[in-house]
Amino acid sequence: MTNTLTMDKPDVRNRLDAMAQGIIGAPLDRPEGPLKVVGTATYASEWQLPDMAYGVFARATVPAGKVASIDREAVLAMPGVLAIHDDPRMLVNPAQGGAGKKPLQDIREIHYFGQTVALVVAETFEQATAAAKALKVEYAAPDDASVFDPESSAATVEHGPDTQRVQTGDLDKAMADAAFSVDVTYTTAGHASAAMEPHASIASWQGDQLTLRGSLQMLNYNVAELADSLAVGQSQVRILSPYVGGGFGSKLGVGEDSVAAAIASRELGRPVRVDMSRQQVFETVMRRSETRQRLRLAARADGVLTGIGHECLVSNLPGEQYAEPVTQATEFLYGGENRMLSVDVARIVRLCAGSVRAPGEAVGMQALESAMDELAEKVGIDPVELRKRNIPAIDPSQGTPYSSNTLAKCLDAGAARFGWDQRQTQTCATREGEWWIGMGVASAARVHKLVEASARVTLASDGTVKVETDMTDIGTGTYAVLGQIAGEMLGTPIEKVSVCLGDSALPAGPGSGGSWGAASSGSAVFLACEQIRQALAKKFQGDEEALSLKDGIARLGEASAMVVDLVAGKPIVGEGTIKPGETSKATRQASYGAFFAEVAVNAYTGETRVRRMTGAFGIGRVLNEKTATSQCYGGMTWSIGSALTEELAFDLRDGHLVNHDLAEYHVPVNLDVPALEVVFVEERDPHASPIQAKGVGELGICGGAGAIANAIYNACGVRVRDFPMTLDKII
Ligand code: MOS
Repeated sequence: MTNTLTMDKPDVRNRLDAMAQGIIGAPLDRPEGPLKVVGTATYASEWQLPDMAYGVFARATVPAGKVASIDREAVLAMPGVLAIHDDPRMLVNPAQGGAGKKPLQDIREIHYFGQTVALVVAETFEQATAAAKALKVEYAAPDDASVFDPESSAATVEHGPDTQRVQTGDLDKAMADAAFSVDVTYTTAGHASAAMEPHASIASWQGDQLTLRGSLQMLNYNVAELADSLAVGQSQVRILSPYVGGGFGSKLGVGEDSVAAAIASRELGRPVRVDMSRQQVFETVMRRSETRQRLRLAARADGVLTGIGHECLVSNLPGEQYAEPVTQATEFLYGGENRMLSVDVARIVRLCAGSVRAPGEAVGMQALESAMDELAEKVGIDPVELRKRNIPAIDPSQGTPYSSNTLAKCLDAGAARFGWDQRQTQTCATREGEWWIGMGVASAARVHKLVEASARVTLASDGTVKVETDMTDIGTGTYAVLGQIAGEMLGTPIEKVSVCLGDSALPAGPGSGGSWGAASSGSAVFLACEQIRQALAKKFQGDEEALSLKDGIARLGEASAMVVDLVAGKPIVGEGTIKPGETSKATRQASYGAFFAEVAVNAYTGETRVRRMTGAFGIGRVLNEKTATSQCYGGMTWSIGSALTEELAFDLRDGHLVNHDLAEYHVPVNLDVPALEVVFVEERDPHASPIQAKGVGELGICGGAGAIANAIYNACGVRVRDFPMTLDKII
């Protein structure tokens, strides 16, 4: 029977600390690291299957209308070409995830420029590429004109989800009565997920059983989506995704590469590999919406907020449910009894908008935190102090208590480490040669969510331990942390623990998304190990909590035995399932942090260089200091991108994406990123999970760009309200 825990109440037992093995939390290397470095970790496109055929997509050269005809004959006569598929089911929506959510239903309808219209399959990748390029498609124009610009008066604007609307008190009155107020509008550019590994799928059928090798984040959901698209049973679909070269939201749901490969493979009776080029990924997978954000802050003379308004405009295709949840952290971060939060959606013709790297907080926090800096200046108090004065006792929107809240501690710890006391209050106060120097601060916040997860752990008769779940490792350190939890619980040195991930035949994990992966799947591994410990304790007729396991020896009271003798030839299998419960709803759960940035702004060119950045983060228990730190480095690096370089540019004549690769869409590179510093404010949040860990993956991007904006203002007195803050906006 599975050891199941529903988080209906806080788990205060703190069992992991009680183990005292020194494995959990330690900065251990990732076990799969060497495989990645030497090139033997097999990514989706790298599997070699016998008799494989290759599929390449042809894409629309118009933004709207219908496919009128496809000139098949000419292309089918080209060397090596095997088939042309335009099955309507091939077009799925990777932005949403979840079976049954497929507004883009028919591949013969054109929803946006660059959309997939057909798959050309050939004997080689090169032949398929040439044939897809040669495919002539005729289109029938639509009846009405498309709108490509979210700011156009012709764009239809709808309310986003009601769950994103908050209205309490009277914000207009609070603004009128305020001792100090700001009423400012910020904009942020659209972003690409820009994962290193492009999307690819290899499908092969054995009878009516499909095996799909893909690059996906959420296997148990992806099985349901793929089965749904193909109209087969979920038991007929197995997905393998052992190594994923980054996802950042773009691989949450199956894309048309997976569906098209499966359809083509079934018809051809041989394995089919579908690769998407970097340009195809940029142009078809999905985007983060650009945003316009009006921020209104009303404060008393001492800076305490009486009101917050955060009203946002984002965009998506007509009919799409997703709306960038910009106000997600504004709901709970600061007090103020008069609140107005909303997200509206402009319906425009650009590729689908979906989840990209901390959807909501990544862009919402950078605007909120810039506005807070503007308020601090008006009130005339230190911006760290302003934030601390506005940390509420309970969640001001829901009225629920916080499961824990480390914001004040993070602000203090970060300020001390960074040397915030060196900051000049006046702008333009520090100059080094042709560079203005300045410092800025911003808070970090990201919702924490526990997601149902299962795992199996096997203690073998030779004392080795195997952890199994369909959870993925998208570069985040899942292999490392799940092994450490098992090692800690079972007293097994990490060399004797193996972790199997990324196979949908294994117990269903939570997937890698929303920063919930490590805490959720880690809790399932914890529960599976607890079951093994119960089985071992039983052999002493004792209680699991009294059992000690260390260096292969089990002790309980006066009794002791070798673990291998207790296992005695028959492996002990533990199964664990964690489920969110009442405490997940009754408390506001989030990870917090604070960013401190020092920048240099060139007085002649307006170029900004981030000189150093410190992040202090409260993420509950740190499961592995090295991988958690690396996650924060990654997030802070993305925040530099959001601040200074990242911007999707669309042609407003037809909505096509102009900068569709890493040469033109600029993610921060080595020279853009200084040595980053990460400090953890460690805590045990008993509401968050039985291992007292919270989300960490996306926290490092949530607000960081605000610290950079505030540092730019402090350096040179220019307040840029339009991200990214390229030099033309500063000079
Ligand atoms: Mo994340 S954008 O939820 O993969």
